[in-house]
Amino acid sequence: ARAIRLAVIPGDGIGPEVIAEAVKVLDSVTAGSDVAFEKTTFSLGADRYLATGDVLTDDDLAAIAAHDAILLGAVGGVPNDPRLKDANIERGLLLRLRFALDHYVNLRPSKLYPTVPGPLTAPGEVDFVVVREGTEGAYVGNGGVLRPGTPHEIANELGVNTAFGVERVVRYAFELAERRSKRLTLVHKTNVLVNAGKLWNRIVTEVGAEHSDVVVDYMHIDAATIHMVTSPDRFDVIVTDNLFGDILTDLAGAITGGIGLAASGNINPDGAFPSMFEPVHGSAPDIAGTGTADPTAAIGSIALMLDHLGLRAEAERVTRAIEQDIADRGDASRSTAQIGDAIAALARA
Ligand code: NAD
Ligand code: IPM
Ligand code: MN
Repeated sequence: ARAIRLAVIPGDGIGPEVIAEAVKVLDSVTAGSDVAFEKTTFSLGADRYLATGDVLTDDDLAAIAAHDAILLGAVGGVPNDPRLKDANIERGLLLRLRFALDHYVNLRPSKLYPTVPGPLTAPGEVDFVVVREGTEGAYVGNGGVLRPGTPHEIANELGVNTAFGVERVVRYAFELAERRSKRLTLVHKTNVLVNAGKLWNRIVTEVGAEHSDVVVDYMHIDAATIHMVTSPDRFDVIVTDNLFGDILTDLAGAITGGIGLAASGNINPDGAFPSMFEPVHGSAPDIAGTGTADPTAAIGSIALMLDHLGLRAEAERVTRAIEQDIADRGDASRSTAQIGDAIAALARA
């Protein structure tokens, strides 16, 4: 039997609720197979911080890094909760994991299923993947505050884009485009962010020359939000930086039936570090505890994880189960656990 060590970080709010269902589906799809997921649960997030003052210790990080993969629910409290302002859970936990484990590909697929009610009237066929850079850009924390608290305060956040970092994510995006419909769109803001824009453009052109069968398109981020709403079927693989990718994938989630369906993988393609799989959404404090969170995004993240681990048949079974469940969804509102039970039953071998 192949043993796979899985670190599970349920996190805050609806995180533990959706992760319980994701684990249910994982257990169901691997029941009786020769792979065994050995799970270690790490209690991290806002609740842990409020109880202990710790966000992510070096020991936590080392222990998590010793696993083969990571499954994360969501971390963070109510936005702007004053009790959490010194903790910075999102940076200290989520981004620290992404940076330390070199998750340079943040993979966020979006697909609109015919039976899913979305906000668009005539969306056409929507099936694209955003390849969001995961370790650089405005997220690196390169900046600071001068004259804090004064009328002359200066708050700096310097975006960092390196040739090394851009090239590796662009290469990944081209290789993905080769396996899909051979269309790649670079999304940026080269008219204003001219330095980073030049670098992204140059590298897309250079790597593109090695993939002459891939048709390359460019769009400014603001225009991309228009096209994603008016003609989302024009996209196949989108490559973009960390911040634009963050914003664009919430929009992508919204147009494909809601953020409760949007799965993601924080991938270290080289395999030097464990990759981390999580729904795109956050801890949703507004619905936590009501049992109404949709676990489909977390379950879809299981499919991405299985695929990444080379368990293609199992990944396919989870994806088919999600698709079947979505097709069966009527108007009846089901609880988090009811959706998890239904998908787990469909995924059983
Ligand atoms: P959010 O994604 O948590 O919620 C936005 C809206 O979507 C809310 O109305 C929520 O009820 C709804 N929603 C989210 N997931 C849903 C689901 N599975 N089913 C049904 N509805 C769902 O974003 P937010 O309110 O901006 O952030 C809340 C907290 O989560 C913050 O602390 C934020 O920093 C954190 N956050 C964490 C992650 C992560 O851990 N990966 C991602 C985003 C936000
Ligand atoms: C996401 C989240 C995170 C991000 C936050 C919570 C740090 O919004 O995973 O999309 O901005 O990457
Ligand atoms: Mn986000």
